[in-house]
Amino acid sequence: MAIVTFTSPTMRKNKTVYAIAGDTKTILVLAEQNHVPIPFECRDGECGSCLIEVSYDKPTERNAIAFTEKEKIKLKELGKLTEQEIQDAEISDLPPRYRLACQFIARDEDVTITFTGEPGGA
Ligand code: FES
Repeated sequence: MAIVTFTSPTMRKNKTVYAIAGDTKTILVLAEQNHVPIPFECRDGECGSCLIEVSYDKPTERNAIAFTEKEKIKLKELGKLTEQEIQDAEISDLPPRYRLACQFIARDEDVTITFTGEPGGA
């Protein structure tokens, strides 16, 4: 089970929700189901509106590293992902700081998701 905490200046207080183990809901779907207002447009890794910053509450538990190709391309376009971070993720299992909520799935790790409330801001 993943414990996901959402935080944003657009929210009165942080919101913590549980993602069931084996769940394949993206962070964006989880946010919507819990009335957390992460901006989005395409839901498909194309627009970059749903940019989030992810921090791992227990740094040893990091399982949600796999990027989709779309996510990788869009994050690079936004200047939020370097070649070094791609290598760190794919070779050394070190997760990058920024992700797209419509592509990112938290599995067993506990994460804090930060977003500005502005499309593409994080
Ligand atoms: S909603 Fe468009 S990239 Fe996530």
